[in-house]
Formats: sequence, structure tokens, C-alpha cells
Amino acid sequence: MIDTNVISGLCQKAIDMRSESYAPYSDFLVGSALLTEDGQIYTGCNIENSAFGPSICAERTAIFKAVSEGHRDFVAIAISGGKRDGELQYCAPCGVCRQVMREFSKPSFKIYLAKSADDYREYTLGELLPESFGPGNLE
Ligand code: THU
Repeated sequence: MIDTNVISGLCQKAIDMRSESYAPYSDFLVGSALLTEDGQIYTGCNIENSAFGPSICAERTAIFKAVSEGHRDFVAIAISGGKRDGELQYCAPCGVCRQVMREFSKPSFKIYLAKSADDYREYTLGELLPESFGPGNLE
């Protein structure tokens, strides 16, 4: 069980990270906050590109930051997204990000879709990516 205060802190960090989002093409600002097994938090935002293809989502930004600094075990991620001048949505991760989460997480990995620090929906990765393909398949 993750402490409610920790979840709220994670959600708030994801919301705050929207201010770093570089999304001039979609105007859809997304922030994320990833909790590692050893209690550290890595944040991310979406970063778009004029060539579109090289754009990256907020979730993968946070995960790649963490992996590049030696972390490979994660317990939860909070995500917050919405149009620049609109209300926050319960913004679900795209399929590519779900697969990247799958690489480094157990099926019990928690995903919080945050509209505020205490208004969020909670899912496990197993719920959002059932019957998935992962590292075990290649053993
Ligand atoms: N986006 C994310 O960063 N995370 C999501 O969960 C959904 C979509 C970004 C990608 C793109 O920059 C913008 O939101 C619109 O799709």
C-alpha cells in the first residue's frame, strides 16, 4: 500500500510539471511523477518536435530520466494532462508508454490519473495493459 500523502504528493508534482511541458503543436500539456522502489521521485513532461515523430510523452521522459540514473524498479506514476487553457483530464497513458512501463514494472505498478492532489483515478499496469509482452518472453 502506498501512503495517501505520498500519492497526493506524486499527483501534485505531476500537475506542477505541466509548466515545463513543451507542447506548441498540440497545446496539450502533460506532467508526470514517477516513484522508484527506493522512494525517489523523477518528474517528466511532454516534449514535442516540429517533425512530430521525435516527440516524447511525459511518462517516458520521467522513466528514461530515472533509468539513466540507475533506477530500474518503479512502484507508481502520476500523470496529469489537459489542454493549455482547459480543465485537467484523467489523462491515461498512451500505448507506447504503457509498454515502456511494462519493461521496468510489476503488474501491480500503480498509475494515478490526476486532476488534483486528491482527485485521481487509480489503476494497475496489469489493468491498463493486460496480456502483455515483456522481458520474460525473451528468456
Ligand atoms: N501525451 C503525453 O505526454 N502523455 C499521455 O499520457 C498522452 C499524450 C502527450 C503527447 C503529445 O505531446 C500530447 O500529449 C498530445 O498527444
